[in-house]
Amino acid sequence: MQVYRASFLAIILAATSLFSLNSFATSGKDNTHTLGERSIFSERAINERLAPSAKVCMEGDSACQGASTSTPAPTQIAAAQTPEQIYQTKCMACHATGAAGAPKVGDEAAWKARAEKGIDTLVKNAISGVNAMPPKGMCMDCSDADIKAVVEYMISQSVKK
Ligand code: HEC
Repeated sequence: MQVYRASFLAIILAATSLFSLNSFATSGKDNTHTLGERSIFSERAINERLAPSAKVCMEGDSACQGASTSTPAPTQIAAAQTPEQIYQTKCMACHATGAAGAPKVGDEAAWKARAEKGIDTLVKNAISGVNAMPPKGMCMDCSDADIKAVVEYMISQSVKK
């Protein structure tokens, strides 16, 4: 009989502590959420826990704005980068693989044909974008001079003099 009573008590205890866990979770100092959203079991809290810890966004994407408050302004990074570094971080994804029909760096014929338009046209197109080539190759913090230097670098890596 004694044993039964003990386990009965244990069950009662477990049940009440489950309840109080929930009310404890709901009764916290959370004033930012409405009552139904405070619980750790609420859809809001569950979604928050399941949300990815980081968000990927493209440079210049308005969704990214304000996301990197602690990192230095992008212009400072670009200023310190060589054309080769800009190429490697911004342009290589398309121009090393030929993705979306991008002229591949190292493909002499492709770049000779492009270079016939003249460096100024190539730079202008690289800055404003042409077909699948995004404006400035999505390097929004690159200056026009940066882009020109990178285009010259890409040509120098492709067309032998
Ligand atoms: C998202 C892929 C992508 C990225 C990133 C990209 N490009 Fe391009 N680029 C292309 C494609 C595709 C073309 C071919 C466009 C066409 O002529 O149809 C192209 C063409 C070019 C051309 C030739 C333009 C012309 O008039 O023939 C230059 C120059 C160029 N890109 C420079 C760059 C530079 C510099 C960067 C980095 C700052 C860069 N691209 C990043 C896809 C890309």
